[in-house]
Amino acid sequence: MPLSDVRIFDHAEQLARAAAEGFVESAQKAIARSGRFVVALAGGSTPKRLYRLLADKPYSQQIDWSRVLVLWSDERTVGPEHPESNYKMAWDALLCRVPIDPTRVLRMPGEAKDIDQAAADYQQRIAAALDVSDHGAAPCLDLILLGIGEDGHTASLFPYTAALDEQHRWVVANHVPQKNMKRLTMTLPILNRAKRIFFLVTGANKAGVLREILEGPCEAARFPAQAVQPTDGQLVWMVDRDAAAAWEHAGKDQASQS
Ligand code: 6PG
Repeated sequence: MPLSDVRIFDHAEQLARAAAEGFVESAQKAIARSGRFVVALAGGSTPKRLYRLLADKPYSQQIDWSRVLVLWSDERTVGPEHPESNYKMAWDALLCRVPIDPTRVLRMPGEAKDIDQAAADYQQRIAAALDVSDHGAAPCLDLILLGIGEDGHTASLFPYTAALDEQHRWVVANHVPQKNMKRLTMTLPILNRAKRIFFLVTGANKAGVLREILEGPCEAARFPAQAVQPTDGQLVWMVDRDAAAAWEHAGKDQASQS
């Protein structure tokens, strides 16, 4: 596993602030370069602090929200009001508090009855929003935020699940036996085309799996996060000291102080 850019922070708060600065930097560069900023948000709980920071000064005022297009890297099969919804978490923490055009917030419809069709429809919505063909190569998103589970999953790419082998579609409905449910998820073809990826990892409960991912042999089926290797983009691991505790290099390679 090549050593990525791993940034260790004393506490989750410093990590969230650094991630907010990186988010703003990505947005400003993308908007200057192409007139828009296309970002895929992560679900789970870790990003919540980051989203709240982005909704407040100074960060909220440093982004031209009219140029931002928001996607999700995955969604549970629940509706937008469900407490488990990744959309709801991001809407409540960030999107309802910034002047973003709701038509530029592309929610994954986790409540769809035909979840496979919902995945195909979402891919078409991305293509239409970016004015590209939905049959071609995956588009290059400016920033994708991701987390990892204790089992090494990222987005809803869980160990030994079919979506890990998807080579063409950008979004699929992935059957996750571990959760006894399907989940909508972006796939490696679109993740690995990103200009920039931030993995946000906090907590001692992630220390063991983070060491496996960063230092262990490459076993992408077992640790799907290892398969996230942007072909022409920047991969940044933003981890707090608790999550880095088991990582051998923790004392040697601190790209940024907390
Ligand atoms: C989800 C996420 C998932 C998440 C990790 C980490 O839908 O659950 O997309 O990949 O990022 O499970 O979750 P926490 O941040 O809650 O630890």
